[in-house]
Amino acid sequence: MIILGIETSCDETSAAVVRDGRWVLSNVIRSQVDLHKRYGGIVPELASRRHVTTIIPTIDLAFEEAGVGPSDIDAVAVTEGPGLAGSLLVGINVAKTLAYVWEKPLIPVNHLEGHIYANWLTLPGQPEVEPPVFPLVCLIVSGGHTELILMRGHGDYALLGRTLDDAAGEAFDKGARVLGLGFPGGPAIQRASEQGRAGRYPLPRAWLGDSYDFSFSGLKTALLRTVEQYRRPVQSSRRSSSRQPFPEYEPPVYSANMPVADLAAEYQEAIVEVLVEKTARAARDFRASMVLLAGGVAANALLRRRLTEAVSVPVRYPPPILCTDNAAMIAGAAYFLYQRGVTAGLDLDVQAQLPL
Ligand code: KG4
Ligand code: ZN
Repeated sequence: MIILGIETSCDETSAAVVRDGRWVLSNVIRSQVDLHKRYGGIVPELASRRHVTTIIPTIDLAFEEAGVGPSDIDAVAVTEGPGLAGSLLVGINVAKTLAYVWEKPLIPVNHLEGHIYANWLTLPGQPEVEPPVFPLVCLIVSGGHTELILMRGHGDYALLGRTLDDAAGEAFDKGARVLGLGFPGGPAIQRASEQGRAGRYPLPRAWLGDSYDFSFSGLKTALLRTVEQYRRPVQSSRRSSSRQPFPEYEPPVYSANMPVADLAAEYQEAIVEVLVEKTARAARDFRASMVLLAGGVAANALLRRRLTEAVSVPVRYPPPILCTDNAAMIAGAAYFLYQRGVTAGLDLDVQAQLPL
């Protein structure tokens, strides 16, 4: 079964063609980072407008790279939520139109489910990925979510824990903002950490007792307090313009002796340590035969290494390109949904707050 997947839930416009939920034939991702960088975060209105202009050429390219055309596909899959409403709307409208015109089934996919099913995918030219084995524990760590899930079979999700405030990716992004390292924060903090050492400037970990829940907002506040002493007053260099509808991000200015790399390393360590301890404990408690990582933060090298060291069962994570938002994971998850009879009508609507 060949499925065209469409993903526009946040700031990546993506289209992909995937066979049988496992084989990626193409996966085109148009990042909007250049557009949002100057604002220090994603501006939802700009994101949805960019999706409108990019989505059709992205789908064309996905077909071209896969070497197939509309008549070769068996279904159209699209992210229905969670995500930014205006962004989701673009993908959903395009998917509905194509499914209608081409007379193909329309499959609605939960974005988080997509992240999980990225672990079933094999990229072109890469060694075959064996399907994960149940029961498994999956840590979903993205810009908007931090959820620890027990999966006993396809589509069978039990929520063990989640973040009570910021998501892990959000914590990386906010930390990078505080340190003046740019956007997106995860890769920036990982890079800066390579030159530093954790432990020199200790930051707190929120363990929250025996629960599987997470909390990262206190960590960000502690970082803010630590850097305050190095902060230099700045005169805004940018004049406000009436043609500039969104405030631009002005990075903080610190004295030259601020230990940016050591702070980045400690900040990353604090996030990773808590994620790893709770995931490893859940894997033991529920006798998981496998642990999966999913979502943008799953691209983090320290998290991958530490988790692999901490658990005795196999730890699996997608290649970095399938960790961050992409449409291959949507087309992949759609295959397993379709096996269970999940399809949508043309009244499919955006579900900005959709739970797993
Ligand atoms: O899954 P994703 O692409 O979008 C959402 O669904 O939110 O995740 C984006 C998040 C961002 O917060 C970004 O900073 C984080 O993933 N991220 C990383 C790394 N690469 C991306 N965080 C830590 N280390 C990385 N290497
Ligand atoms: Zn995502």
